[in-house]
Amino acid sequence: MSLSIRAIDPVSRPDFAGIATGVDITAPLAGETAAAIAAGMDRFAVLVFPDARFDDERQIAFSANFGPLEQATGDIAQGAERRLSMQVNDISNLDRNNQVLAREDRRRLFGLGNRLWHSDSSFKPIPAKYSALSARTIPGAGGNTEFADMRAAYDALDDATKAEIADLVCEHSQLFSRATLGFDDFTEDERRRFAPVPQRLVRRHPATGRLSLFLASHAGAIRGWPVPEARAFLRDLTEHATQRRFVYAHVWRRWDLVMWDNRVTMHRARPFDATEVRDMHRTTVADSAPTLEQAA
Ligand code: OGA
Ligand code: MN
Repeated sequence: MSLSIRAIDPVSRPDFAGIATGVDITAPLAGETAAAIAAGMDRFAVLVFPDARFDDERQIAFSANFGPLEQATGDIAQGAERRLSMQVNDISNLDRNNQVLAREDRRRLFGLGNRLWHSDSSFKPIPAKYSALSARTIPGAGGNTEFADMRAAYDALDDATKAEIADLVCEHSQLFSRATLGFDDFTEDERRRFAPVPQRLVRRHPATGRLSLFLASHAGAIRGWPVPEARAFLRDLTEHATQRRFVYAHVWRRWDLVMWDNRVTMHRARPFDATEVRDMHRTTVADSAPTLEQAA
């Protein structure tokens, strides 16, 4: 095994966002390599694997080294509308015939929710552990993905705020994040599927013991708080947590695979020319329990 991981920016972010090289991760992994990648995830929270020429089958096999995979029930396209299997989230601007979605297509408009800071599947009772995003086709410019370090953001809070938020529970739903963009064109079935779920606002990482903020634009309420006060408070926390000093901006190259730990990060997509193809495939490893059942 010759896996090597180093910080992308050793000066300003020595423990956030690493680049991993030396191993072909599209081939079956030795147990010790998978363990070394998991250890790298514990330290860096975001790992970039350049030149990983995955197809979906191999990407699924790679991701399954780190836990059970989620089904893509959070995607807006379900059933016959889907382009990819239920084990792969479709993070593209394509329909099932690989045609670019029209500007006003509701699947595209729903997908624009990814431009808001979020943590994947925080709207599910058991949210995501890792996401692995494979760049199959990228546009000529733009379309970066930004990642924010929720451990560093938590550490930088003052003691009064840490005490105030220690036991808060938020309600998360894709209905909330989309409403922020003025998208409220949901069917009855989608409203049922996307019903709000509770999540702790402060979490402890099971391997490192570090505390972090569990924020997302999906959070639309805090239990026991008036809604406008909760949203203003969450907005302030999000502003704090996404200051540039906490952010790594990934500029994609074709065949990059980027894996992140949703328990301790937020991310967001950046805009690009809507007439160009951007085709990214995401596999998602589920966490082990609802956050309310995890150690405070
Ligand atoms: C995701 C996501 C951002 C992007 O894959 O979960 O939010 O830049 N992607 O496509
Ligand atoms: Mn996402």
